[in-house]
Amino acid sequence: MAIHFSNIKEFIGTRVSWDDRADLFTPEAATAIRAKVEERTVLVFPEVDLTDDEQLKITELLGPKVRLTGKFNVQDNNEDVYQVTLDEKINPQPEYVLGTFFWHMDGLSVDMPPPFATLLSCRIAPDKGGETEFCSTYAAYEGLPDDDKQAIEGLVGVHSVRASLSPIADAIPEKHRERVMGIGGGMEREHPIVWTHESGRKSLVIGTTTDRIVGMEVPAARALLIRLQEWAAQPNFSLRHKWKKGDFVIWDNTGAMHRAIPYDKSTGRMMHRTSIAGTEAVAA
Ligand SMILES: [Fe+2]
Repeated sequence: MAIHFSNIKEFIGTRVSWDDRADLFTPEAATAIRAKVEERTVLVFPEVDLTDDEQLKITELLGPKVRLTGKFNVQDNNEDVYQVTLDEKINPQPEYVLGTFFWHMDGLSVDMPPPFATLLSCRIAPDKGGETEFCSTYAAYEGLPDDDKQAIEGLVGVHSVRASLSPIADAIPEKHRERVMGIGGGMEREHPIVWTHESGRKSLVIGTTTDRIVGMEVPAARALLIRLQEWAAQPNFSLRHKWKKGDFVIWDNTGAMHRAIPYDKSTGRMMHRTSIAGTEAVAA
C-alpha cells in the first residue's frame, strides 16, 4: 500500500506517511484511513498542506459530511469548511472557540447522532499555546477498575451548550451573556455515560457539555464527572499535538474528548474544520 501508518503512543495516535501525495485521495486510502481512525482514535498527517478542496475530498471519501456550526460564523470560503479562529472579523462568536479550551466531544448538545469524526487542517500555527489534546474514551472505559465500571453502568448525563459555556461565562460581556449562553434554545440532551457502540466496544460520554447526571444530587454528579474526566485524560490515554503549518489531523469524535491549550488571538491561530456525520446515536 502506498500509505503507511506508525503508532505514536500505545493507546492513541498514529502518524500517516505516503509515497505519493495523490495516494491519499483514493477510495482504497479512505477505507484504510477510516478503519485506522476507528482503531487508533487520532491520525496525524504531518505538513500535508491540504487545500480546502482537498480536505473536502478526503472528508467526502470517508463519509457524508455534516455542518456543525455553519450558521454561527461568517465565511468567505467554502461553507462546508468552518474556520476555527479567535479573529472576530471572521468568527463573531469567539465564545465557541474559548469553550474548546475544556475537554469535550463535538455535537453532544444538538439533535443528531454525534459526528463520527472531526478533521482539522492547520493554516496558521501559533508559536505559543494552541496545541490540541486528545484522549481516548474507549481506552479510558476499558482501563477502569470493575467497581467503577459497575458504578457508572446505566447512568445518564444531561448535556447542554450552557454547561459547556459555564467555565467562560464570566468572560462574556454581561449584556451578551444570556443571549450567548441561551443559544440552542437552552436545549438539553440526555446521553448514557457509557456508550455501547454497535461494534460492541464501550466508551465514556463525558466532557464539559455534561451538566449533571439524571437522578443524582448535583454535587455528587459533578464530582463523579470530574473524576471520570481526570481518569480519561491521564497521560496513558491521551495525546498532545503541537501544530505545524499544514498539519492535518482526523479523530474519532465518538471515542475521544479533545481540547485546545489556551492561546492568544495575537498568535493568529487558524484551523479549517470539516466533520463527518455520525451514524449511531449514543446507546447504553
Ligand atoms: Fe471541538
